[in-house]
Amino acid sequence: MDKEIIFLPITDSTNEEAKRLAQKDAKEGTVVTADVQTAGKGRKGRSWHTGEKTTLAMSFLLRPYENVGLLPDQASMITLVAAVSVAKAIEKMMKKTGVKEVPEILIKWPNDIVINGKKACGILTEMQLKGCDIDYVVVGIGVNVNQNGFPEDIEDIATSMRMETGFSFDRDELLDGIMNEFGHFYPLFCSKKDLSLLKDTYEELLINKNREVKVLDPKGEYQGIALGIDHEGQLLVKLADGNIRPIYAGEVSVRGLYGYV
Ligand code: BTN
Repeated sequence: MDKEIIFLPITDSTNEEAKRLAQKDAKEGTVVTADVQTAGKGRKGRSWHTGEKTTLAMSFLLRPYENVGLLPDQASMITLVAAVSVAKAIEKMMKKTGVKEVPEILIKWPNDIVINGKKACGILTEMQLKGCDIDYVVVGIGVNVNQNGFPEDIEDIATSMRMETGFSFDRDELLDGIMNEFGHFYPLFCSKKDLSLLKDTYEELLINKNREVKVLDPKGEYQGIALGIDHEGQLLVKLADGNIRPIYAGEVSVRGLYGYV
């Protein structure tokens, strides 16, 4: 994928900026990154705090219908492809930077990146339709890179690459690394329009695998053992009665039994 990177000192949200560019016919592979976001967005309508020059805030544009004929209900899988790409890129960057004992960089289903049990990256993928087809998809990635600490309300669940290694990292290099990894994994996804070629890699990184999880379903919470994912990226949870239930990320959240993971 050819990429064009737009560096901004400040914007409301790199996702919003990427969407504005998409409306002006920007090409697949357009990447927006900013030192500061004044209205960074998280999943489920939450806000996302961007530490000035310590967070990597980036969003990139895909046109998966135009280019590979992807259908709207297949688009949610892109977020899992992005999660694998981020986890691999962080690991490679830590090794390259000389971190002696690289911590495990894992994925909490569906797409949070977790280092030593705390969240170091979140991903917000947004899709715009044109009629019944996908017009574009924006993948927004926020990585806690060089923070030294977090506000009290999230310090138990949030961490940064720096806090887990003692090293600081170059955010632009990490952006490049993420785009390179995505350039490797995304074609594997596009060739099948599902995660069959990525399932093993994803599951090797899945922190929830074979662990007890609490499924926060608005219709009622329940517990089970997370077995892995299916080819569409749904989490397969084995219930106490032995039944296996596929969980769709759009509907529910998953937690560990005693905390975030
Ligand atoms: C989450 O809630 O876990 C997702 C957070 C996604 C944050 C990133 S930062 C870059 C991009 N721009 C945004 O406004 N949000 C995403």
